Amino acid sequence: MNKSIGMAVKTLCNGGLVAFPTETVYGLGADAMNEKATDRIFQVKKRPRNHPLIVHVSSIFMAKRIVSKWPKLADIFASKFWPGPLTLVFKKNNLLPECVTAGQDTVAIRIPSHLTALALLNEFAKKGSGYVAAPSANIYGSLSNTCYLDVKNAMGGHLNSTDFILDGYECTFGVESTIVDFSSEIVTILRPGNITKNNINDFLNINLKNPNQNLSIPLVSGSSKKHYCPSTPLYVLNYLDIVKKVENLFFDKNSAFKFFYWGSSLLPIKSSKLDQEIAPNNALEYGKRLYLKLNDLDRKDYKFIFFESPPETHEWEAVNNRLMKAKS
Ligand code: TXA
Ligand code: MG
Repeated sequence: MNKSIGMAVKTLCNGGLVAFPTETVYGLGADAMNEKATDRIFQVKKRPRNHPLIVHVSSIFMAKRIVSKWPKLADIFASKFWPGPLTLVFKKNNLLPECVTAGQDTVAIRIPSHLTALALLNEFAKKGSGYVAAPSANIYGSLSNTCYLDVKNAMGGHLNSTDFILDGYECTFGVESTIVDFSSEIVTILRPGNITKNNINDFLNINLKNPNQNLSIPLVSGSSKKHYCPSTPLYVLNYLDIVKKVENLFFDKNSAFKFFYWGSSLLPIKSSKLDQEIAPNNALEYGKRLYLKLNDLDRKDYKFIFFESPPETHEWEAVNNRLMKAKS
């Protein structure tokens, strides 16, 4: 066994927190069966206590153990998309401490496919409970993190010496998992992700409901209007609106502020005050780079960040959803 996986498992067993990579974003994990340990996740993240956590496991068998009602259809979903960037919500039983599910009668579960995450979960299933409660590894409301250095930057100062940040391979998707609710009769997508409604319908034609934007409960983080926010103001606009806005900003010749633009083609403006880059034209690659880019830009001294709005097609749904939450 890899030495750092061993240290991470030991940390979980001792009730500490472990930040670990998944194929979506880094998670901030604790032993889901240890109430005190999971309670610290809320403290460290400054997360409202009524926002339930996703429980990560290494097998469908383990998932079923914490669920009271597992519909037949969920078997088809789980065997097709797990391990992978999909979270399923079920009616729970009373095995988990209340704080993990934040007082709801449901539980969200995921088997990640990232090799480091799976190794951690498999090893923790041998040495501990095997159930890891983990939200994204960031302070509540701010950007998710998809690489070791960004996690260290955002969370390092909030963790104790008895916690651990696991350095692993990259997060290949870079956008949080799709959440599908199986806890009521109508199967609903609560949060869009890389597994899209079309991907699901391609292999199984069911009447999937789209997320209800006005959900008060269950409290999916993504359902609050602002989330995943950089501290630098981000504008997500079409190309021509960005050109106009940047030209207006340049009227003030005395200002020393700098701006950044990311889009499908460069702006017809040359200025030392404007840095520009071509963004990936493929939704998967864009999603993978989104939080890396925003975290990087946030560390620099830009007054405003401009992103050109991506296309409105279904492959871009998860990216557009996160951009709408992140923009000013
Ligand atoms: O990709 C991901 O899902 C990452 C990685 C680490 O697995 N996790 C993640 O966790 O994004 P978090 O907490 O940042 O977002 C998960 C969302 C939360 O908004 C939470 O409210 C929702 O899942 N959730 C958790 N349990 C739920 C439940 N029982 N019913 C409905 N939503 C739930
Ligand atoms: Mg989150």
